[in-house]
Amino acid sequence: MSGKYDYTTLKTDVLIIGAGGAGLRAAIAATEAGCSVIVASKSLLGKAHTVMAEGGIAASLGNVDPQDNWQVHFRDTYVEGVFLGNWRMVELLAKEAPDRVYELERYGALFDRTPEGKIMQRPFGAHTYRRLCYVGDKTGLELIRTLQDKVAHSEAKILDEFVVTKIVSVNGKVAGAFGISMREGTFKLIECKSLIVASGGLGRLFKVTSNSWEGTGDGLALSYRAGAVLMDMEMVQFHPTGMVWPPAVRGILVTEGVRGEGGMLYNKDGERFMLRYSPKKKELDARDVVARSIYREIIEGRGTEHGGVYLDIRHRGAKYIMEKLPSMYMQYKEFAEIDITKEKMEVAPTVHYHMGGIRVNPETQMTNVEGLFAAGEAASGLHGANRLGGNSLTDLLVFGKLAGVSASAYAKQGKQIKFDESVVKEEIDRVMSFVENPGATNPYPLIDTLRESMSKYVGILRNDSDLNKAYDAIKSLKPKLKDIGVRGSLRFNPGLLACLEFTNLIQSAELLVRGAIERKESRGAHFRSDFPNRSHDFRKNILFKLNEGRDEMSFAAVPELPDHLKDLGKEED
Ligand code: FUM
Repeated sequence: MSGKYDYTTLKTDVLIIGAGGAGLRAAIAATEAGCSVIVASKSLLGKAHTVMAEGGIAASLGNVDPQDNWQVHFRDTYVEGVFLGNWRMVELLAKEAPDRVYELERYGALFDRTPEGKIMQRPFGAHTYRRLCYVGDKTGLELIRTLQDKVAHSEAKILDEFVVTKIVSVNGKVAGAFGISMREGTFKLIECKSLIVASGGLGRLFKVTSNSWEGTGDGLALSYRAGAVLMDMEMVQFHPTGMVWPPAVRGILVTEGVRGEGGMLYNKDGERFMLRYSPKKKELDARDVVARSIYREIIEGRGTEHGGVYLDIRHRGAKYIMEKLPSMYMQYKEFAEIDITKEKMEVAPTVHYHMGGIRVNPETQMTNVEGLFAAGEAASGLHGANRLGGNSLTDLLVFGKLAGVSASAYAKQGKQIKFDESVVKEEIDRVMSFVENPGATNPYPLIDTLRESMSKYVGILRNDSDLNKAYDAIKSLKPKLKDIGVRGSLRFNPGLLACLEFTNLIQSAELLVRGAIERKESRGAHFRSDFPNRSHDFRKNILFKLNEGRDEMSFAAVPELPDHLKDLGKEED
């Protein structure tokens, strides 16, 4: 490569950004439909947040509790999403979950078994019945392994270690994406007829999170800048149990499977406090309830030495623990030098999941930008204000498949949208400005400041004054975007990646905080101490759309339940 504006062009029917569960399942569907497919992934294949859904995948197989069925799964999901979810997406999830799980098994996933040889199922928070199909505490890993194997044997082309920096859209229609092959240190333009964003969430906006480095909300910011509507950005899920000690591993997930297998939570005084907060469901209440309860114990002075509470599974015995929770055993042994068969774990809430994201049509997963689709955590609408554990893996399979089917149908009818080369040149200028700017500001301390502010002011308990402090911090960081830069080339340059990610993080942070300020009620994961009750007036989705460089906010009423679902999703106080 010699000139600044050199790049190569690839062409495909369907481009998928993200190689987690949703992206891979979409790739399978699109190749089966006969389309050419490229999967672009920021990290190496197999390294996705999907693996952090450890405890299981929710599907009403009824193998352990025969009373279970899709209607109960629908009710649990819709009601625990506190009536903010899109009923049609919830219906599709609940109805299709069993088929997607059996299909995954046919692809080669090895689930744990009941004594009679059926797929085993365990309890999880706020699921009425034992509904989580699992592989010990490595379910997400098994799902990724299986899908990856299937994709590797398909015609799909994988571009890993590839950072998409821009989604190209022309007059409301998608045309392709542009980015950097970090391995080659080169620019590439990928022209496509349809594009699926399946790049996960934004946990890395916060200091303490279960998300690994990839979770910087790139897909949300890219889609937004391409004209897509973002929805319910304020809805961030804190998983109740992350590791707290030693500091280097703070936030790493401790699977809900521990509580599913009977783990109990205690404060420093030895009180099993969930009996006080939730006498019926106890440790297996919905995540927002358990996370808030733990948080209250800590801030009211009943936490442990390192700022957590205790999680105790010892009563199950070493053999059982090693069989059902082998990763948790290893994780505590290696990272904290604790034997969980003999000692209690210390845990505290950790940012785990984003229910908000790109708004999609529930029947197709298409966004308001023609040809642009989204699936998995990057999309919004399914989980409402609170996601049930285990529903994310189901989401990836059900909606990954739907996005793949719809995007290939669109690609087959659609034409490649043409665009001017100046679009690419402008993008090269933007990216190169980060490495051609001697004396530029180092982005890392700015990212740290952003994360500090988000964790301090946009946490489990929110209020207007704190949220405005976060907003002020964002406003003072934003002008610094134009000054950031690093040294080096395009090739494996983590500093350049930090510049690109910081741009995306700031974008999401601003919308998230604006949404949180605007939602003057408490609903699911969004809890306002200054508005502690749910308000019917806010049974609305908060939408953002970029209009001539300005963030335009609007509200949309949550679609009403149709007659056949009215009784299942009845709103209660
Ligand atoms: O706790 C867990 O195993 C996580 C599951 C999930 O987020 O779905």
